[in-house]
Amino acid sequence: MGSGVKDRVAIITGSGQGIGAGIARTLGAAGARVVVNDLVADKVEQAEADMRATGVDVVGVTADVSVAEGAEALVAGAVDAFGRVDILVNNVGIARDKYLSKMSEEDWDDVLRVNLKSQFLCCRAVSPLMMEQGHGRIVNVSSRAWLGGSGQANYAASKGAVVSLTRTLALEMARFGVTANCVAPALVDTPLFRGLKEEVQERLAKTVPMGRVGTPEDIGNAVLFLASDESSYITGQTLYVCGGRSLGAG
Ligand SMILES: NC(=O)c1ccc[n+]([C@@H]2O[C@H](COP(=O)([O-])OP(=O)(O)OC[C@H]3O[C@@H](n4cnc5c(N)ncnc54)[C@H](O)[C@@H]3O)[C@@H](O)[C@H]2O)c1
Repeated sequence: MGSGVKDRVAIITGSGQGIGAGIARTLGAAGARVVVNDLVADKVEQAEADMRATGVDVVGVTADVSVAEGAEALVAGAVDAFGRVDILVNNVGIARDKYLSKMSEEDWDDVLRVNLKSQFLCCRAVSPLMMEQGHGRIVNVSSRAWLGGSGQANYAASKGAVVSLTRTLALEMARFGVTANCVAPALVDTPLFRGLKEEVQERLAKTVPMGRVGTPEDIGNAVLFLASDESSYITGQTLYVCGGRSLGAG
């Protein structure tokens, strides 16, 4: 194996659109062999076709990674196609923002299942492979919101738990050459963000010290480093990729 992520096999969950698609494009452009995944088959087919058109060695697996069968089918699909898994990027995530008094148990359970349990299930499915081969990179997508956010009890708790999960994985897998780290974005230009009213988009962009929202590629570039051979001595860390928005008032 070379340097960077060249010829490494990378699974990116929820990569049919948004940040996951940006991460998949970035890793693919750097020479990784890519497994795209989504709950929605049409999105998987589109992402796969787009990446193949740019010369990336890619396969798509449609699966719900928030249930054990889906997570296991995704890892099995990657092994069938490429024989190994070097990089797992746990990117799927949903939000069901509501003030606590209005939050249903379903809002709580759905967010915790998709944002947190999916990461546990996918990590559990790949960890024996990574430990056996003595190499692996796990990158979990958390959020600046793990610091707390009004109307986001479920989302913030799930993203904080992702940080704790990652630190624990890092400890358990360090001696096997497997690292686990988080990236924590804040505002990113995705279909979700574009769906907000234009004045809301502008107001939010002004809350970022750098004066702009992030792009999926901004997140992809941070993931690329944490997924690369060169980051081998970094584990259990959370890297904010948010134009300074995690720093407080400035
Ligand atoms: N967009 C932001 O501003 C922002 C900020 C901080 C953190 N994040 C985090 O980044 C990640 C990606 O966010 P995004 O904005 O790109 O989201 P998105 O909704 O645009 O894309 C997520 C994709 O994941 C898929 N998906 C959802 N549940 C799935 C499941 N169970 N199995 C497989 N696929 C599933 C969806 O179909 C969708 O295509 C999430 O974890 C999110 O919490 C986003």
